Amino acid sequence: MKPRHLKTLLAVMLCGLSLAASAQQPADNGRLLASNCFQCHGTNGVNGAFGNLAGVTQKDLLDKLNDMRLKPAGANLMAPHARGYSNTDLYWITYYFSRLPKP
Ligand code: HEC
Repeated sequence: MKPRHLKTLLAVMLCGLSLAASAQQPADNGRLLASNCFQCHGTNGVNGAFGNLAGVTQKDLLDKLNDMRLKPAGANLMAPHARGYSNTDLYWITYYFSRLPKP
């Protein structure tokens, strides 16, 4: 392969890599996934029956959710919810709530 072609190939590969990285962030910043939480924690995580999620730091939310995932599925209402999501799902759900203003 000529060096010129090698450069083009490299450029295409790098372009593909950056596209793959940016495709990971959902266009709605996780709102669609987070909407599954609205029925109990309120629309956008505000004024729900079980505590506000809006404006809580992503670390706090992830710590709590990861604790819940370790509990048996029947431990409380949250345990089966927390266990149903992948790490990536929970990352974007908590990303969404943490970037909303605190009520
Ligand atoms: C069916 C109702 C229901 C749904 C849906 C629900 N939750 Fe919960 N959530 C609860 C209840 C009940 C608690 C309190 C659990 C306990 O400690 O007994 C709770 C607690 C929490 C807590 C801990 C709050 C605190 O201050 O300790 C977090 C964080 C949380 N939920 C996040 C979520 C997220 C994120 C989702 C969506 C993926 C979600 N919840 C969906 C009912 C629900």
